Amino acid sequence: MKIAVIGTGYVGLVSGTCFAAWGHEVICVDKNAQKIDGLKRGVVPIYEPGLDELVERNSAAGRLRFTCNLTEAVKGALVVFIAVGTPPRAGQGDADLSFVYMAARELAPLLEDDAIVVVKSTVPVGTGDIVQKIIGSVRKTGAFSVASNPEFLREGVAIRDFLEPDRVVIGVEDERARKVLMELYGVALQAHKTPIVVTQRRTSELIKYAANAFLATKITFINELADLCEQVGSNVSELALGMGLDKRIGTSFLNAGPGYGGSCFPKDTMALLRTAQDYGVSVRIVEETVTANEARKRRMALKVMDALEGDVEGRTIAVLGLTFKPDTDDMRDAPSVPLIETLQRFGAIIRAHDPVGMENAGRILSGVEFFDDPYECAHNADAAVVITEWDSIRKLDLARLKKTMRQAVLIDLRNAFEQGVAEEIGFRVSAIGRSTTARYDGSSSTALPHMAERVQPGPRAQGAHFETAGGSNDNL
Ligand code: UGA
Repeated sequence: MKIAVIGTGYVGLVSGTCFAAWGHEVICVDKNAQKIDGLKRGVVPIYEPGLDELVERNSAAGRLRFTCNLTEAVKGALVVFIAVGTPPRAGQGDADLSFVYMAARELAPLLEDDAIVVVKSTVPVGTGDIVQKIIGSVRKTGAFSVASNPEFLREGVAIRDFLEPDRVVIGVEDERARKVLMELYGVALQAHKTPIVVTQRRTSELIKYAANAFLATKITFINELADLCEQVGSNVSELALGMGLDKRIGTSFLNAGPGYGGSCFPKDTMALLRTAQDYGVSVRIVEETVTANEARKRRMALKVMDALEGDVEGRTIAVLGLTFKPDTDDMRDAPSVPLIETLQRFGAIIRAHDPVGMENAGRILSGVEFFDDPYECAHNADAAVVITEWDSIRKLDLARLKKTMRQAVLIDLRNAFEQGVAEEIGFRVSAIGRSTTARYDGSSSTALPHMAERVQPGPRAQGAHFETAGGSNDNL
C-alpha cells in the first residue's frame, strides 16, 4: 500500500518508518528542508532507541523515502496520514490546530480519488469534521474519506509501542475507510492478536485524550499517596505493588516521582479541560490532576532544600538526569526545569549531568554547568538530586559518588535506588514516598511551608517484591 505521512516529528517519523517495516511503500514529507536532507542521509533528528537503524534499513530497501514536496508525496497514495504538531496555544491551554488545517488545505487539491486522509496528530474532538469540510470545499464528497487514528506510543519505547501495541483505535465514518485501515493494521498485527477498536471519528479523537488524562491521573494519585507514605512511615513502591497486582488496577504508571512531564500529558490534559469547558461539562478529576501536578513539580525544590537544612544559598547541587523521562533527549515540560530554576533563585550553584539531554537542556536553562561524567558532576557537591531514572544513573557506584561529594546527601526523586542501599553507604537520603534520613531540623532561616514531623526510618526494607507458590520474586 502506498502511504504518505505529513510531518516528521515523533509520531510521523516513527509511524512512517514502522509502516515501511511492515512492507508498505512510505513517503514522509516535511517543510523543514534541513530535517529532510538529514533524513535522506540517515540522520534521525530525535533520540529514540532503534529508530536510526530502522530508518536506515527501510530506506536502503527503498520502502521509506523523504521529501519536502507534498505533490510528490501525495501522488498515488491511498492513505495520507496527517501527523503534524498540535502544540498548546500560548496562554490558551487548547491545542493549536493551524498546522493540521494547513496540511488539509494543501493536500486537498493533490489527493488521488478515493484516498483516505487519516488524522494521527492528537486533536480535539470534532477536528476530523473540520478537516472533512476543508477538503470537501475543493473535492467532491464521496471521493475521499477522513478518518481518525490516534497514536499511543511512548517516547523511548516508541518502536515497540507501534509494532506491538496494546490496541489500535480507528475512527471512521464510512465503510471504505474502515476496510482500508483494517487492511493496513489488521494484517500486520494478526500475529499479536491486537484488538482493533473501530468506532466513530469523534469517539476515536476523544479516546486519545481520555487515555492520557487517565494515565496522568493515575500518576498523580500515586504521587499524592507517596506524600502520605512519607508522613505515616509507609513505602510507596510496596503500596503500589500491593494495589497494582489487583488486575483491575494494574501495576504500570504507579511509579511515584517528581510529577509527570513531557510533550503530551501536560498539553493533553489542558486541552481536554478546554474541550470540556467549551461544551459546558466539568471534568473535575482532570482539573485537580493538572493543579496537583504543577504544584508538585514546584514543591520538589523544597524537598531538596529540606534535605539541606532549609538553605541552599551558595551550596553546590549535582542534578543527575534532566530529561522528562529516560531514553529520550526531550526536555519539554521536564520536572528538572522548575526544580533547577527554583534552586537557582534561592542561590544554589547547579551542576548537571544527563546521558543525552544536555544539549536540549542547555537551550532552556542558564547558569548551569554540564558534565558528561556523573561523578565529575557530583564533585564537591553538597547534595546530589536524581531526577530522571536513566539506567546509567540507577547503576552509579554510590560509594564512588559519595567519595567525590562534599556532603553525602542524596535526594532520589525517582526512587532509583532501593531503600537502604544509599543509607548503608553513609548517605543521608530523601526519596519519594519513604521515610527519610535527610531532614530539616527547623534551624535555618529560609522560609519553608509547614511540614508535619517526619517519621524516623524503619529497619531496612526488603524492596517491593512478591512471591508465588513457584517462589518467583519480582521487583516493582
Ligand atoms: C505518553 C503516553 O504514555 C503515550 O501512550 C502517548 O502516546 C504519548 O504520551 C502521547 O500522547 O504522544 P510519553 O509522554 O512519551 O507518553 O511518556 P510516558 O512514559 O507516558 O511518561 C510521561 C510522564 O509521566 C514522564 O514525565 C514520566 O516520568 C511520568 N511517569 C510515568 C511517572 O511519573 N510515573 C509513572 O509511573 C509513569
